[in-house]
Amino acid sequence: MDSENRLLPRLIQARLETACLGRRIYYLPETDSTNRVAAELAGHGELEGTMVITDFQRRGRGRLNRTWQSPPFENLLFSIILRPEDKVANVLTLTLVFSLAVSRTLSAVLGKDINVKWPNDVVCDGRKLCGILAESTVRAGRLESLVVGIGININTRAQQFEPAIRATAASCRTLTGRSWDRLDLLGRILTELENSYTVFQADGFAPFIKAYRERLAILRKPVSFELKGQVTTGLVEDINPDGSLAVILPSGDRRDLFGEEVSLL
Ligand code: BTN
Repeated sequence: MDSENRLLPRLIQARLETACLGRRIYYLPETDSTNRVAAELAGHGELEGTMVITDFQRRGRGRLNRTWQSPPFENLLFSIILRPEDKVANVLTLTLVFSLAVSRTLSAVLGKDINVKWPNDVVCDGRKLCGILAESTVRAGRLESLVVGIGININTRAQQFEPAIRATAASCRTLTGRSWDRLDLLGRILTELENSYTVFQADGFAPFIKAYRERLAILRKPVSFELKGQVTTGLVEDINPDGSLAVILPSGDRRDLFGEEVSLL
């Protein structure tokens, strides 16, 4: 293991420009899942903005019971505890806002056209660069905390991706042909996440809709998805104010999707 290259809290904090996100950091050299650890800490009352970060996950979790795999010391794997205001507390729209923030930062740094793929991916030329898993804890009908887990492929080499995802995955390295400083990228991403979260807390998803639409890789494209157990096709029409995806079916009917897996045809 490359111990010279650890994401130690003092190294992260030396680069931080945020007031809240990442001001308290739990670093684990290795863990099962930072989302699981963060949810446990949130349950014990840990403050908003606390981050759990690791250099290796044994059982990284993805959406829809998938796994998230990442070789040690190459990438960014972290989870942030949030306690959003009741009026904006919504897992879907916060996921969209955070994917937009990551895509903006990576576009600016890498000088590439980086897009969002509803609901939780950041992509470049159709290849997935980052996945976000937001998990909520609800008590007595009220959102108590939200853990937003973010996995970003920074320095994975093409041959390190599992064969099953090699054709559809990307990292900053595979996109640019060079390695990237994880601490620098993390600092920039946390700044952008915090700026976005501040706006989101005040005004919800509305201020982000235009920018989200502009970066939405599947807008006006044909997609397939599962509807009531049946594979269905449709044309992506728009993103709705509540974060759902408006799709026009071959019949001309419109369906709003709230979390289904959507694949570009
Ligand atoms: C997805 O694409 O389905 C979401 C992947 C989310 C992966 C990140 S890695 C850090 C955090 N901890 C986890 O167990 N999952 C998220």
